[in-house]
Amino acid sequence: MTKNFKRTLITTALPYANGPVHIGHLAGVYVPADIYARYLRLNGRDVLLIGGSDEHGVPITIKAKAEGVTPQDIVDRYHKIIKDSFEELGISFDVYGRTTSEIHKQTASEFFRRLYDNGKFIERTSMQLYDPKANQFLADRYVTGECPHCHNPRAYGDQCEACGTSLAATDLINPVSAITGNVPELKETKHWYLPLDQWEPALREWILEGHKEWKTNVYGQCKSWLDLGLQPRAVSRDLDWGVPVPVPGAEGKVLYVWFDAPIGYISNTKELLPDSWEKWWKDPETRIINFIGKDNIVFHCIVFPAMLMAYGDNYQLPDNVPANEFLNLEGEKISTSRNWAVWLHEYLRDFPGKQDVLRYVLTANAPETKDNDFTWADFQTRNNSELVAILGNFVNRAVVLTHKYFGGLVPAAGELEGIDRDVFDELGRIRGALTESIENFHLREGLREAMNIARLGNKYLQDTEPWKVAKTGDMARVATILNTALQICANIAVAFEPFMPFTTEKLCRMLGLDSLSWQELGSASMMTAGSALGQPELLFDKIEDEAVEAQLQRLKEARRQNALASWKPAPQQTDVDFDTFMKSDIRVGTVLECERVPKADKLLRFLIDDGLEKRTIVSGIAKFYDPADLVGKQVCFIANLPARRLRGIESQGMILSAEDRDGRLVVIGPTAPVAPGAAVK
Ligand code: 2FM
Ligand code: ZN
Repeated sequence: MTKNFKRTLITTALPYANGPVHIGHLAGVYVPADIYARYLRLNGRDVLLIGGSDEHGVPITIKAKAEGVTPQDIVDRYHKIIKDSFEELGISFDVYGRTTSEIHKQTASEFFRRLYDNGKFIERTSMQLYDPKANQFLADRYVTGECPHCHNPRAYGDQCEACGTSLAATDLINPVSAITGNVPELKETKHWYLPLDQWEPALREWILEGHKEWKTNVYGQCKSWLDLGLQPRAVSRDLDWGVPVPVPGAEGKVLYVWFDAPIGYISNTKELLPDSWEKWWKDPETRIINFIGKDNIVFHCIVFPAMLMAYGDNYQLPDNVPANEFLNLEGEKISTSRNWAVWLHEYLRDFPGKQDVLRYVLTANAPETKDNDFTWADFQTRNNSELVAILGNFVNRAVVLTHKYFGGLVPAAGELEGIDRDVFDELGRIRGALTESIENFHLREGLREAMNIARLGNKYLQDTEPWKVAKTGDMARVATILNTALQICANIAVAFEPFMPFTTEKLCRMLGLDSLSWQELGSASMMTAGSALGQPELLFDKIEDEAVEAQLQRLKEARRQNALASWKPAPQQTDVDFDTFMKSDIRVGTVLECERVPKADKLLRFLIDDGLEKRTIVSGIAKFYDPADLVGKQVCFIANLPARRLRGIESQGMILSAEDRDGRLVVIGPTAPVAPGAAVK
């Protein structure tokens, strides 16, 4: 840490309560913030971890409209799911509030009112997109169109997710209303703008001069924003869901969600500490850290700080904004609307008791410097080959051997040999590296260092082989070795607490430890000789192929559903002249026989009465029919195709089928019986 702060306020981006949270949210924001908060608490520091749901804004109203319920119904449903699942994952929020709470509405309203009264806004009347059919102005996610920067055809009215640029709805090329699909028209409306341009010099100095230590992605994004030149930004919207604009002449207008949401960090602190919240926001000795995903950088580094500067009253700006990149899933971008995600509440249901496995995998693979990929195969390997085989195995051996040779009492160490002293030297090195990694938000690296303690333990037992020493009768040496191994276990308990709190809790039960502190990391005396161990428990168990296969099946089904939803008939082919078309001799025939072709799982052999004689046709529709169901049916076939041999059978024509959206083939036939051989015209 650069400066000795008295306390640290950690905020986590408030997730929109329009759906559950997924692994992308967790890896980017909540797991790292929780690790950091737990680490500081273990260091005895004064810390608050602030969370809550973002319950205003267009994503909520769109979801409500789609389901035919009220926005309040939506946020009540998802706030509960999100809050409960965070708790179950061990995200140690001191408060988890919501932006529909009274305290938030008052705080946001007062914030706006003070800026208004002090002349910090400019009022502007402008032409905005309007959907006359929906009788509504279109802002933010209510309008989609082409991004003027990267030409992504599906950019939103507030942001292009492809290039990350923040947009105004009127910037979009060919805008379309997300409500009715209509092309919107322009209509006059009045809004309040925060003149970001006026704050540009102060922001430049604060970020570009004062925070060169920020992550390169964060610093770089801020620099390019500032270099482009800041513009006034509207902080109100024409909407009926949100905090009403608290000034005269603002009927039907609410605060822009990105104005109200970050104020949620303040209102949630107030909710927790009604009498002492101010010191967490206004005392220069408080260090504020905002954990966010990369799409939120501009709001946390430019817009909210400008709001705080405009408000004055000693509000402190964040000291760091360790934004992460995005996590993909099985090589594709996570998407709520396409159900391409691993949802936290479903994971907790499918993998009960395995919260730490998810926390471990998401940290080991965290998108700290670039987008990363979550795969179920990697999840399984990290559990089976790292958590079970390295960490769980070492702890289990140390505890079981102590029960075997010393009745479960921690043996006293005798004089240490070189190999034992090397262990403690290495623990000292790890302590330094791990501390430095976490302080600098390099949590992947930190986790690797923590795992090095378990690797060290396994190697130590492998090299000292206490089970062989026991056979020689040198129990004093066995005692020293197991004392050392148990000290390593205790070090593991400390090092992993921020990353895997449930595992540490189990481990503490096994070791008989009841309190931990980061200062003890590296110590050779956390385990007291003579104290009793608890019963050995397995820290982790194997994840079998079936469990992973079930998850992959769910994703496969999501992919199928997405393909169905986005299916469109193929574009029309180029014209054929009538005479060419008439050369195709299409007729109706009656199926006399139908059977599967042996050793060809796609093929059916038909015997068709075509009115003249009987003909054999082989058709690739076996996957879609029980052959018996087709006997007696009438089908259309092309009669004048040259005969072809398929699996040794001569096929004299082709049965016509329609290919449905999901690739299913459905045989075409007349809707009423006709004479076999009737021509299709
Ligand atoms: O991007 C989002 O999901 C926003 N709901 C984050 C808000 S962060 C804060 F400002 F509240
Ligand atoms: Zn773009």
